[in-house]
Amino acid sequence: MSRIAVINGPNLNMLGRREPGIYGSGSLEDIQRALSGRFQGRAELGFHQSNSEGELVSLIQTLAGAADGILLNAGAYTHTSVAIRDALLAVDIPFVEVHLSNVHAREQFRHGSLMADLAVGVVAGFGAASYELGLEGLLGYLGGRESP
Ligand code: DQA
Repeated sequence: MSRIAVINGPNLNMLGRREPGIYGSGSLEDIQRALSGRFQGRAELGFHQSNSEGELVSLIQTLAGAADGILLNAGAYTHTSVAIRDALLAVDIPFVEVHLSNVHAREQFRHGSLMADLAVGVVAGFGAASYELGLEGLLGYLGGRESP
C-alpha cells in the first residue's frame, strides 16, 4: 500500500473560518476524514499542517524513504518558496499539487507556482474534492499508470 504524506501549508488550519466564500465551510479535519474514508485500504495516509516554511522544509526532508508520494497544498508558499521547491527536489518523491480554489481565476500573484513544474500533476478549483482528485491521480501514477 502506498504511503502518502498529505501536507498542508499556512492558514489551511483555518479552513471553515477563513474566507468561506473562496475556501468553503468545511474544516481541514473534514478533508482529512473524507480522504481517510475514500482511500481506506488503498493508501496509508499521514496528515501534516504547518504555518512555518522551515517546518515544512524539515518535514519534507524527513519523508525520504518514509513516503512514496506527497499530496501538497503549500498554500501561499506555493507562490513564493524556493526552499520548499528545493526540499522537494532533494527528496525526489512524486507529488501532486492541490488547491481548493482556482488560483488562475484569482489575483495575478497566485497564478505562478514554484513547484508545479516538478509535480506529477496539479488540481485546483474543486474545493475539498481537489484533494480526492489529486490523490486518485497520485495513486494512479504510483501504480504505474502514466499521467497523460
Ligand atoms: C490555496 C491558494 C493559495 O493561493 C492561498 O494562499 C492558500 C490556499 C488554495 O488551496 O486554494 O492559502 O493554496
